Amino acid sequence: MEAETGQKTRMSQKAVFRVGVVLVCALVVFGIIRQLSVPKSFGQYGYYRGDNVQEWVSMDQTFASGNQVCAQCHAQEVQEAAQAEHSQLDCQSCHGPMQDHVKQPNQVHPRVAGNVDLCGACHRVMVGRSKDNIRTVQVGSHSGGLDCIRCHDPHQPYAKIGGGR
Ligand code: HEC
Ligand code: HEC
Ligand code: HEC
Ligand code: HEC
Repeated sequence: MEAETGQKTRMSQKAVFRVGVVLVCALVVFGIIRQLSVPKSFGQYGYYRGDNVQEWVSMDQTFASGNQVCAQCHAQEVQEAAQAEHSQLDCQSCHGPMQDHVKQPNQVHPRVAGNVDLCGACHRVMVGRSKDNIRTVQVGSHSGGLDCIRCHDPHQPYAKIGGGR
């Protein structure tokens, strides 16, 4: 009996030792892989790759420099918008980056849809969004599923329906 127990203890000691060896090997391999695969700049500013900041900064700037640029060719839209509720918006807040269009107006034709996605980005009722600065609407019930520009002119929101300033 005693001999059998002794043998069992030795066997389980061996087993524990083997498991230990496997664990240590796994840790070493993990350490090596981590060392090789984690980029150098990781953690430079926080829990992300520091070089990423530089990559964003060096991306091409494709916005035109402002509404005056658009006025050279779209005097009417610029004038209309300046007198209405959207006067504080830059053309490119809705139209997106336009530098390529300014360089090649007849080749590059950017279009923007006046739908719930565009207008709702600023006017949709959201938890935590204050109505004090920008009026908000429940887009579904307010528009009845129609595109916002069916009733609102994007440059002069009340021009078609009356009201406003
Ligand atoms: C150098 C002149 C010029 C400048 C500057 C310019 N555009 Fe244009 N834009 C045009 C011309 C020309 C067209 C019409 C192209 C056509 O229909 O063939 C046009 C068309 C457009 C259209 C309509 C596209 C369509 O197919 O319905 C939008 C929107 C537009 N421009 C926005 C802007 C904005 C915003 C700016 C300022 C960032 C701007 N443009 C600056 C010349 C210009
Ligand atoms: C609130 C969003 C918004 C702003 C700000 C805005 N636009 Fe527009 N614009 C639109 C939408 C949406 C259309 C498409 C209208 C359509 O499909 O009938 C459009 C259409 C146009 C067109 C095509 C012709 C037309 O009237 O349909 C031109 C040109 C244009 N915009 C120029 C400008 C310029 C210049 C400015 C800056 C003064 C500007 N937009 C500011 C949303 C905007
Ligand atoms: C980039 C943000 C932004 C986008 C996109 C935008 N708006 Fe506006 N809108 C404003 C701001 C800012 C005002 C002025 C503050 C106000 O009155 O709510 C305004 C005012 C308005 C008003 C007048 C509210 C009032 O009675 O004073 C209407 C209507 C309106 N927008 C409709 C639209 C529609 C329709 C679209 C899409 C074509 C649109 N807006 C896209 C920011 C935006
Ligand atoms: C069927 C026509 C119609 C459609 C579609 C429509 N509106 Fe309006 N909207 C109106 C009318 C009419 C008013 C002015 C009376 C009112 O406040 O209800 C108005 C007012 C507004 C106001 C000012 C609200 C305030 O408190 O003063 C905003 C902002 C607005 N609309 C945004 C939008 C947006 C964003 C969309 C698209 C999701 C949209 N509208 C679609 C008819 C429409």
